[in-house]
Amino acid sequence: MKALVISSSPNEDGLTAACATVAAEGVRLGGGQVEEVRLNDLNVGMCQACGNGWGTCLTNHECQTEDDFQALHARVRQADAYVLVTPVYWGEMSESAKAFADRLRRCEATRDGESSLFGKPVVAVAAAGGSGGGMISCLTSMERWIEHVRARVFDLIPVNRWSRDYKLAAIREAARAMAQGVQFQN
Ligand SMILES: Cc1cc2nc3c(=O)[nH]c(=O)nc-3n(C[C@H](O)[C@H](O)[C@H](O)COP(=O)(O)O)c2cc1C
Repeated sequence: MKALVISSSPNEDGLTAACATVAAEGVRLGGGQVEEVRLNDLNVGMCQACGNGWGTCLTNHECQTEDDFQALHARVRQADAYVLVTPVYWGEMSESAKAFADRLRRCEATRDGESSLFGKPVVAVAAAGGSGGGMISCLTSMERWIEHVRARVFDLIPVNRWSRDYKLAAIREAARAMAQGVQFQN
C-alpha cells in the first residue's frame, strides 16, 4: 500500500513537521510505502471559482487552474491512504491546506460514489502550537472534508505543545495501524 503524508506548514522543523515525520515512520512500520508532500513547497493556489462558480471540476473532475495541483491530484488518486497534517491557524486549517482541500473536494466530491478517495482511510492531525486553542474546530472542518470527498476517517488527532510527546507516539501508531489495516484488506 502507498500512503501520502501531506503537511501544510512553512516551518521545516516545527510541530507540524514533527507530526509528519512520525506519521511517515508509522506507515513504514506498518509495511507501507510513503510519499511525503509539503504543500508549502508547491505552487497550489486558491480555487478561482471559475465560470459562474463551477468550472471543469464539475464536468471533468479536473481543475482548470493550472499549477502544481494537477500533478498532486494524480498522486492523490494513486494513494491508498492519507495522513493530513495542518498547523492550526485561527482554529482552522492553514491556507495551503485549505487551498489544496478546496480544489480536491470540488474535483472528487462531484464524482459521488466514484471519488478517487472513496473508502480510503485518512488520519487527520491538527497541530496547535500557539495557545493550544482551535484544535477541535480545525478537526471538525477536516472531518467534514473527509466526508465530502467520500474518504473514511481513520483517526482525528489534536496535538498542542503540551501534549506533543505522547501525541507524536499516537500519530506514529495510528499511521502504523492504518497502513497495516490497508495491507490486510488487499
Ligand atoms: C496566522 C496564525 C494563526 C494561528 N492560530 C492559532 C490558533 O488558533 N491556535 C493555536 O494554538 N495556535 C495558532 N497559531 C500557532 C500555530 O498553530 C503554530 O505556529 C503551529 O504549531 C504551527 O507551528 P509549526 O509550523 O511549527 O508546526 C497560529 C499561527 C499563525 C501563523
